[in-house]
Amino acid sequence: MTAPILTFDWHAADEAATAQLGTALASALRAGDVIALNGELGAGKTRLVRAIAAALGMVDEEVNSPTFVLIHEYEGRVPLYHVDAYRLRDSDEFLSIGGDEVLAGDRACLIEWADRIADLLPRDHLRVEITATGETQRTFAMSASGKRSAELLGELQRTLSGRS
Ligand SMILES: Nc1ncnc2c1ncn2[C@@H]1O[C@H](COP(=O)(O)OP(=O)(O)OP(=O)(O)O)[C@@H](O)[C@H]1O
Ligand SMILES: [Mg+2]
Repeated sequence: MTAPILTFDWHAADEAATAQLGTALASALRAGDVIALNGELGAGKTRLVRAIAAALGMVDEEVNSPTFVLIHEYEGRVPLYHVDAYRLRDSDEFLSIGGDEVLAGDRACLIEWADRIADLLPRDHLRVEITATGETQRTFAMSASGKRSAELLGELQRTLSGRS
């Protein structure tokens, strides 16, 4: 793995602080951005995605194929793919359910359990490692690995500074 070019940790004391992070991420997000979410079961990956989607004013669309339940599409200010890679066997299985299209850059991609498809992620993505440090406390350790993700993380940092 290449060394991150920018890192930033967000310490959330409660779900409201997680939602605050989601809102800030949403305001900096663009189509083509890839956010790789990692962390144990119940860490808060989906909670963060919901906060981002809500901030973008989204409505969950109906999925029309059972194999696509691992990939959700949302329409909003920035269109999103929300992927849950937990049940994927490997990267090939992700590709077989349309993963290449997901990563094509038409939408922003929020990927839970992204480490399971690490080899498919673009080099430039924002990694978010979530750790539960208490019942409602979560640490979001974020690292940017390229130009665009560093720009995204920099903007996020500016939005959140002085508000934590
Ligand atoms: N500060 C917090 N941020 C996020 N979630 C929190 C926080 N405090 C408590 N929670 C709770 O932790 C749980 C997080 O669940 P969530 O489904 O987001 O986890 P997940 O990482 O997506 O897990 P999975 O790997 O099973 O998909 C929720 O029950 C939520 O209410
Ligand atoms: Mg989840």
